[in-house]
Amino acid sequence: MRRFSIQTKIVLPFLLLFVFVSILVPLITVELFVWKYSEQFTRETEGWLNVIVDTGYFLDNIKVKQAYSVEIMIFGSDYTLNSTTLTGLSDEEQNYEYLANLFELKDIKQKSEDQAANTLPITHDITLGGIPYKVFYRILPQGRYYCLLRPMDEIADAKRTLTWSMLGIAVFVIALVAFISQKIGKNLTDPIKDLVGFTTQVAEGNLDNQCEIKTQDEIGDLTVAFNQMTHDLKQSRDKLIQAERLATAGKMSASFAHEIRNPLSSMRMLSQMLMKKPDVTPEQQKSLEYILEEIERIDNIVKGLMDFARPTTLNLEQQPLPPVLQSVLALMEANLEHHQIHLVSDFSSDLTEFKFDSDKVKQAFMNVVLNGMEAMPEGGTLTVSTFKEKAAVCIQVMDTGVGISEEDIDHLFEPFFTRKDKGTGLGLANVKRILEEHNGKIEIDSTLSEGTTVTMWLPC
Ligand SMILES: Nc1ncnc2c1ncn2[C@@H]1O[C@H](COP(=O)(O)OP(=O)(O)O)[C@@H](O)[C@H]1O
Ligand SMILES: [Mg+2]
Repeated sequence: MRRFSIQTKIVLPFLLLFVFVSILVPLITVELFVWKYSEQFTRETEGWLNVIVDTGYFLDNIKVKQAYSVEIMIFGSDYTLNSTTLTGLSDEEQNYEYLANLFELKDIKQKSEDQAANTLPITHDITLGGIPYKVFYRILPQGRYYCLLRPMDEIADAKRTLTWSMLGIAVFVIALVAFISQKIGKNLTDPIKDLVGFTTQVAEGNLDNQCEIKTQDEIGDLTVAFNQMTHDLKQSRDKLIQAERLATAGKMSASFAHEIRNPLSSMRMLSQMLMKKPDVTPEQQKSLEYILEEIERIDNIVKGLMDFARPTTLNLEQQPLPPVLQSVLALMEANLEHHQIHLVSDFSSDLTEFKFDSDKVKQAFMNVVLNGMEAMPEGGTLTVSTFKEKAAVCIQVMDTGVGISEEDIDHLFEPFFTRKDKGTGLGLANVKRILEEHNGKIEIDSTLSEGTTVTMWLPC
């Protein structure tokens, strides 16, 4: 089956209907107009004919011709032409028999007798000398035929001009309507085409783009819904990928962590012993310090990995939150001071006790505070606040540090994602996991070179 576009389906039927109507309407109007006009015309000419016959003017054809701009032809009762005002007739047209037939004189007598009962005038359309006439008849005494010929060429011309000009206007309007409806159709179908193209992209697995919303109508709503769907799809796909990574990281760490930590502590011990030897040169001392630093780094990664691998049973206890956070801040106080970071804490007083695993919450909070601290190498302000929001307790950590670029913000919770030379990229992944274990969540809001706000929700 032939495939028509939506645009064609919308535009074509209306256009065809419009073409039909706009051609038919002028034709009917012209016909109606001519019909009405010719009624009036007939009545008028009948009036003239009455005056001409009643007043005896018919004896002077020339005067009648001049007064009324008509032609006169008078036939005898034997159909011979007695007199006429018409000149320049061809030989054939002057033939009496031809004329009698043309004027249907044989029928006129009968008709004029019938006419006594009928008010309709007797008229007849003929063409003589190339000019159309309407003929009006009277029977004169002695059975002669008085024929008055009114030229119709001007009316025919007017009708032709009127018809053509109305058709011209119709064609112009049709072209205009076709153009406008084509534009309207294009406006309607373009966003649909865009959406179809976008759907194809999504079907091919490209979930990163959003379809541009060009119209504020049903198609716009559809685009918004589709964008939302694509966004959700991308989120759940990313979540799946992340979950998979976490699972892999967990499994890997479970098998490697212990194997690595034991030789690592031997290496650390040996290096420390070597450093204490009296014959160590300053260069060797430096190298040993470097080795120890790197061992520390590996140890940190392994610790992070072990957090993943740890069995995820929560040790939930009904308890107040602020003391738990304060214990972490107390641990970090010296460190913050050393980095010239001003600490502002604002713990809401209306927090009730609720159930959470204090070790895990400490671990999460510590990671977030450490990140804030590391984001402010030149010092700054770290604001820690807690407040209640609906059925959750919020912990908010705000720093005035370097901020996070837009391209990084989507990757913060991926294991091993780090922008730090000595980072493990496991901190936030762990924080997220801890919060999710508590049925809570974490959100990070950041402006580059202004600062970052980390908000954590724990249901209570
Ligand atoms: N408060 C913050 N300010 C700026 N960047 C941050 C902040 N918190 C996290 N980040 C960015 O997120 C990355 C991942 O953090 P995280 O998972 O804790 O790993 P790590 O701290 O080991 O790099 C960091 O490398 C850093 O780029
Ligand atoms: Mg970190």
